[in-house]
Amino acid sequence: MAEKSKILVLGGTGYLGKFIIEASVKEGHPTFALIRETTVSHPEKSKLIESFKSSGVTLLYGDLSDHESLVKAIKQVDVVISTLGGAQVNDQVNLIAAIKEAGNIKRFLPSEFGIDVDRHHAVEPVASFFAQKAQIRRAIEAEGIPYTYVSSNAFAGYFLPTLAQQNVTTPLSYPIFLTD
Ligand SMILES: NC(=O)c1ccc[n+]([C@@H]2O[C@H](COP(=O)([O-])OP(=O)(O)OC[C@H]3O[C@@H](n4cnc5c(N)ncnc54)[C@H](OP(=O)(O)O)[C@@H]3O)[C@@H](O)[C@H]2O)c1
Repeated sequence: MAEKSKILVLGGTGYLGKFIIEASVKEGHPTFALIRETTVSHPEKSKLIESFKSSGVTLLYGDLSDHESLVKAIKQVDVVISTLGGAQVNDQVNLIAAIKEAGNIKRFLPSEFGIDVDRHHAVEPVASFFAQKAQIRRAIEAEGIPYTYVSSNAFAGYFLPTLAQQNVTTPLSYPIFLTD
């Protein structure tokens, strides 16, 4: 049987990342999570991090702004999955630089998991956000890193709680946008 790829997840303590880590473990992949040291003592996230540990995830401490920590983590795996948040999309250039330096990565999945950012008709401010993700795509391609872009469209579970503004007291900031 083929050996399972070793998978590193960045953003594992976020909304989406915890599901990716869970799925990776369930599929039998040696799974690594790059965690910020400061998050270990976070009241809620500490429980999540403990659950990673008890399911066999290897915890690596680092930060997107710490190049050495990224290269060290990346050198231990075959595949890198980024589920970093919207505020970190641009800073994935640091991750691309580290993947390039490490030179061992067979596949990189950048933080996408939404609309196909090369094919949409969004309005601002979402259009600018999608443009950031598209720019990251171009940077990956320019470096010749093998990639997969996951376009999963909207997650109902993420948007449903605020649908029809049932539980909010101020107008939502989400704009309406249209796709093909
Ligand atoms: N299609 C949809 O409906 C939908 C819905 C939601 C999200 N998404 C997409 O899914 C992706 C993930 O979003 P999300 O909402 O799951 O993200 P999120 O909850 O904001 O999580 C961000 C993650 O990034 C980590 N992080 C932040 N700064 C870091 C740094 N400097 N170094 C290392 N790690 C850092 C955070 O770690 P800490 O715990 O240490 O802060 C956290 O684990 C995004 O691309 C987003 O656009 C799509």
